[in-house]
Amino acid sequence: MSDPTSPVAGLATPYRTHTCGALRASDAGSPARLAGWVHRRRDHGQLIFIDLRDRHGLTQVVIDATDSPEAHEIASRARSEFVVTVAGEVARRLPGTENPRLPTGEIELRATEVTVLNEAKTPPFYINDPDAPIDETLRLKYRYLDIRREAMQRRLELRSRLVQAIREVHHASGFVEVETPNLIKSTPEGARDFIVPSRLQPGEVYALPQSPQQLKQLLMVAGVDRYFQIARCFRDEDLRGDRQPEFTQLDLEMSFVDEATVMDFVERMAIEVSRAVVPERTLLATPFQRFTYHEAMERFGSDKPDVRFAMELVDLAPEIRGTAADGAPASGFRVFDEALAGGGRVKAITVPGLGDAPRSRIDELTEAAKRFGARGLAHLSVEASGSVKGPIVKFLGEDLAERLAARAGAKPGDLVLIVADSSAVTNDVLGRLRAELGTQLGLADPDVLAYAWVHRFPMYQWDVENGRWDATHNPFSGVLPEDEVLLTTTSGDLAQPTPDDPAGRARAMQYDIVLNGWELGGGSVRIWRHDLLERSFALQGYSRERMQNMFGAMLEAFEYGAPPHGGIALGIDRWAALLAYQVNIREVMAFPKTQSGSDLMLDAPSEPDPAQLAELGLQFVGVPNRTG
Ligand code: AMO
Ligand code: AMP
Repeated sequence: MSDPTSPVAGLATPYRTHTCGALRASDAGSPARLAGWVHRRRDHGQLIFIDLRDRHGLTQVVIDATDSPEAHEIASRARSEFVVTVAGEVARRLPGTENPRLPTGEIELRATEVTVLNEAKTPPFYINDPDAPIDETLRLKYRYLDIRREAMQRRLELRSRLVQAIREVHHASGFVEVETPNLIKSTPEGARDFIVPSRLQPGEVYALPQSPQQLKQLLMVAGVDRYFQIARCFRDEDLRGDRQPEFTQLDLEMSFVDEATVMDFVERMAIEVSRAVVPERTLLATPFQRFTYHEAMERFGSDKPDVRFAMELVDLAPEIRGTAADGAPASGFRVFDEALAGGGRVKAITVPGLGDAPRSRIDELTEAAKRFGARGLAHLSVEASGSVKGPIVKFLGEDLAERLAARAGAKPGDLVLIVADSSAVTNDVLGRLRAELGTQLGLADPDVLAYAWVHRFPMYQWDVENGRWDATHNPFSGVLPEDEVLLTTTSGDLAQPTPDDPAGRARAMQYDIVLNGWELGGGSVRIWRHDLLERSFALQGYSRERMQNMFGAMLEAFEYGAPPHGGIALGIDRWAALLAYQVNIREVMAFPKTQSGSDLMLDAPSEPDPAQLAELGLQFVGVPNRTG
């Protein structure tokens, strides 16, 4: 992979012999022509200095009134962001005036000719000050100016190198890059579809793909064997820092594979790509750690654990149960005993160094726990002396309090946070507290890339409202071979699933790849047998008719010889953001949308032309009048 800071050859055009990042001391004495934007202009009367900028760098240009009066006169009228071309001779800078921070900092271009190619209005924000805070609305409205800023250029370059590295590894591993269409039929991935009305078939719509899922599986039936695509996906869902309505996946599918084949390939690919794109970052633990879903929830309270730091969840129940001869919970603290007696959990995390946190900090943490769904948050502080303090010590007694703190692994100066609730709530709340505190306390090394796998997710979750099993991931995920019997023995009328069906215990051949606490990708080995696929769809409450309507092509194709196959999709936007130290994927997208799904630059979405609506036979009803 090329060094992104080294000059690229072959970029000469009629407007330039070199880019603004190319000239070095060894070029001194040679003629050169540059073109770019005026980054900064300093007028010293006799001498005018222009820092000329393009994507490749910055070069200092000097225009001397005595040598070149005409060029000096033109330069005196140039303003920030004017587009100019300048020609002259490369010269070493005077000793003491070199700029070691710039790759071109040893030289300057003594220009004898300056041509203004285009003038520019004063930009709405500083393009030449990397530290100036800029309102994001302005950045998005004037994205083409925002992207002129160096940080944005570097991030787009990183993203480009990421995609290049991905392509290289896949081509070298026998994959074929295939483009699948965007005007298709609904592919459920848990969001709403964006639909596109058809003019040629009035009253009908296409759906934009939430993913190429069905098409890539059909490519496996078609014998493509190994497919990948840098695929644009569209999902109408609520937006967050790691979600956009339109985003990009590295989508891949492989034939004649089991779980391990796909995971091993993706792991090797992720390592090679990371090393190529960000060789300076540390890769934590290869091979990647693999957790079952159950283990991830128990230990980290999350199915996307940040494994750059420990702070694991500890089960306090054995200590609490041990307090009574019959094993019944009798800690003396009603909240703990009731939780355990009711089949719930009492678990803790130990926060290093927060043992002397003031009351206000504890209150903040309690508020956070409640926001996450807990009824309360108990705590124990271990003082420097080793003695354990906290409002619940009076219920537990000092001895049990000390044993709980010890079980949680707390050392003097640490704080133990305890949640008592159902298993799901306890794990989830502590998992969120862990993630939040890990960031706040700087426990996660920002330079480290910690990939991990979470797999063996439950196939289904019971949907109380609709009385059916919903796929926890996508409806095509296969069942673990040892759990297949749970699907085939699910008795009774498949159209009448019940929450006690054995199928509810089935685990999927589903794997998620996690990076630094983000879900980077997810995939599965698919159900490739027609009978099992129909059975799984039936459990999910699809009538035969609806099944046929939504997945007819797939079901039919599976009758013509479908090979065993599986795959995965990784979010390219998330991957690029994490590699570029960003917490919002907008920072690695050229033209992202706002929280409310708007493109501020193009002003989209916008009202359609009435003629377009008429042509499509469409009419908006019940839309609030926006002209008022
Ligand atoms: P899934 O729905 O898990 O799987 O998506 C895979 C990855 O795509 C990224 N992603 C998003 N990125 C930005 N904005 C969004 N709105 C968004 N939604 C998803 C995430 C996620 O991990 N067809 C399956 C894959 C398969 O089974 O092969 C699928 O789409 O990084
Ligand atoms: P209470 O007896 O409800 O006033 O609670 C006493 C302490 O226990 C307070 O610090 C609460 O925040 C905490 N607490 C209450 N419910 C829970 C719970 N489910 N898990 C952990 N701590 C709790």
